[in-house]
Amino acid sequence: MEQKLIWDIPTRLFHWLLVFSLVGQYVTAELMDNAMQWHFYLGYFTLGLIVFRIIWGFVGSDYARFGQFLYGPKAVVGYLSTLFARNSHAHAGHNPLGGWVVVVMITLVMIQAVSGLFMTDDVFLDGPWRSAVEDATLDTMSFLHNNVFNVLLAVIVLHIAAIGFYAVYKKQRLAPAMVHGKKTTAEKGITSSRLLAAIIAALISAGVVYYVVEIAPPEAAEEEFYY
Ligand code: HEM
Ligand code: HEM
Repeated sequence: MEQKLIWDIPTRLFHWLLVFSLVGQYVTAELMDNAMQWHFYLGYFTLGLIVFRIIWGFVGSDYARFGQFLYGPKAVVGYLSTLFARNSHAHAGHNPLGGWVVVVMITLVMIQAVSGLFMTDDVFLDGPWRSAVEDATLDTMSFLHNNVFNVLLAVIVLHIAAIGFYAVYKKQRLAPAMVHGKKTTAEKGITSSRLLAAIIAALISAGVVYYVVEIAPPEAAEEEFYY
């Protein structure tokens, strides 16, 4: 079997930039003093990454599309029953279970980033939407921001453990393909990373974030925060 391109460049870039951002979000919130401004900027960037990945799920190359990797319950249950079989079919793209884990991770990061827009550091910095809503909503957002990250961490640990499990138990090494994009597989590879589409999607994502952070928040709030 020959090596074929499976993960396009934008999906790989998205993946490693997301890892970088989330580590940065953790460090700027928990480990560093006075890094809140960076936490905000990184948060906007992370939001942009997620918007990009959602667009890319519709217009990206084959294996990056939601339609390709979101399987129905039957396929997921069928896959689960082969989970501990050492010689189970190696999917070129995400497997039926992993596909849904991708959706869970993207959703959790989205909730984390959006709830962040309503947060305050209680000193200098208010998120851009802080003064736009009632206290009850702020409480909900703050609850989400302080707790969803822990759920996300648990899923990330599972994600990395799963990659290790596939490598050791099933002898399927998935991680290198997230770096160079290629896998040895009988399934068909992709022919292009669709870079022009990716650039357009990235510009749209940046526009959406700019709108959400800079233009849409209500005027009245503007003197009260910096960002
Ligand atoms: C903060 C940590 C991490 C997060 C949030 C994360 C998130 C994700 C997401 C969202 C995807 C889906 C990619 C897509 O289709 O767009 C994915 C896939 C993948 N990730 Fe990670 N990841 C993390 C760390 C890692 C690490 C450290 C490795 C390497 C050991 C890794 C290896 C992979 C691989 C191999 C896939 C593709 C899985 C497959 O073959 O179906 N990830 N990850
Ligand atoms: C995906 C993106 C984000 C991640 C992963 C993230 C993660 C975190 C984490 C782990 C904490 C610490 C929570 C705790 O102490 O229990 C935190 C606190 C905070 N985050 Fe985020 N955050 C993100 C986006 C944002 C955004 C976009 C904003 C604002 C625009 C924001 C504003 C804040 C503030 C103000 C705090 C409270 C800091 C304090 O306690 O003084 N975050 N964030």
